[in-house]
This record gives sequence, structure tokens and C-alpha cells, in this order.
Amino acid sequence: MEDLAYIVEPLQSSVIREATHRLQFGMPSEVLVGTLLRALAASKPAGHFLELGTGTGLATAWLLSGMDSASTLTSVDTDAAVQAVARQALGNDDRLTLLLSDGLEYLKVQERQSFDLVFADAMPGKYEGLDDALAVVRIGGFYVVDDMLPQPNWPEEHAAKIPLLMEQLAHRPDFVTLPLVWSSGVVMAVRKG
Ligand SMILES: C[S@@+](CC[C@H](N)C(=O)[O-])C[C@H]1O[C@@H](n2cnc3c(N)ncnc32)[C@H](O)[C@@H]1O
Repeated sequence: MEDLAYIVEPLQSSVIREATHRLQFGMPSEVLVGTLLRALAASKPAGHFLELGTGTGLATAWLLSGMDSASTLTSVDTDAAVQAVARQALGNDDRLTLLLSDGLEYLKVQERQSFDLVFADAMPGKYEGLDDALAVVRIGGFYVVDDMLPQPNWPEEHAAKIPLLMEQLAHRPDFVTLPLVWSSGVVMAVRKG
């Protein structure tokens, strides 16, 4: 089996990828991460999902493609130009709310345990405000981060943040954590209590 050979991507992926290239946006989520997000979204009928860091919307498209018609997704970014690509490609899907907002500000006003999945793909909710991001995950819900393996665009000081995040996640008594040395490096944590 080859992991990339049998993947059917969301319809909007190619148009988003072209715009991502034009904008020279260098941080889109990888295809395999997308397949994981899609599968997790499909496991939560009528789910309530959150993405921190819309970017140009590649991961957003994967999440939407796994969600049923009763599910909702909120995706938050501070960069209007990159989020505009997602708005153009996906904005007609009424399950999706795109917010131009700071991720940490957004997290602080959410109800505790109100999301079935949080994909934390920005500094907020991952390297800042981890507790706030974990607090909004429901029991049985998922917290997912990617780019945990070295990436070419990392600033020099970034690598030191990875073991600190891993350490924090591994010692949370209310979550079980699954590190995946796969794709860009993924960690999935599931709330158990
Ligand atoms: C790794 S990229 C997200 C990629 C996206 N998931 C995709 O598949 O294209 C990180 C994003 O976080 C956004 N970001 C940076 N600071 C932020 C903040 N304080 N709140 C919300 N988003 C932020 C950036 O603008 C960038 O689009």
C-alpha cells in the first residue's frame, strides 16, 4: 500500500492550491493531514468543529468534505488576504463560518467543551493558549496539530518549542495523546474526561 496513491481530494483542492501558489503562501496543510482531518470529521455526525489558522483553506476543504450536513465548522485567521482564498472557494458552504479574528481572543470567549474537534494550525491554541484550546474540546473530541516534524520554513528558535508542547500534551490527565511520525508530524489528543 502507498499512502498517497488512493486519495480522492476535495473538489476545491486544486483551485485552492493554485491560488496558494500565486499568493506564495508557504504553509498549507499536507494531503495526508487532510485525510486524517476528513476521517475525524466524518466520525462526529452533527459535529461542531474549529480550525485555528484558515490559511488559504486547504485543511478547511478537507474538514468540510468529511462533515455531514448537520455539522458546522468555524475557521479563524488574522490574515484577510489568505483567508480570502478560502472565502472564494468555500464561502458558499453554509456549514462554514470564516472569521477574521485572533485565535486566542476567539478561544477565550468559547464555552468549555463545546467542540468535537479543534485543528490548531496557528501559534494560538498550540504554542500559546494551549490550555484554552484544550478546554473547548468535548469528551471524546479531538485536538489535532501538524507540522511537528522539522519544516524548511521554521525560524531557528522554533524547533525548541516542539518537545515542550509534546511534554505538556503527554502529561495531561484529561487527554490521551497519539503522536504520529507521519506526514508533517501530527499529534492527535482525545479528551477522556
Ligand atoms: C500553518 S498556516 C494555516 C494553514 C491552513 N490550515 C491550510 O491548510 O492552508 C497558519 C495560519 O495561522 C494564521 N495566524 C497567525 N496568527 C494568528 C492568530 N493570532 N490567530 C489566528 N490565525 C493566525 C496565519 O495567518 C496563517 O494563515
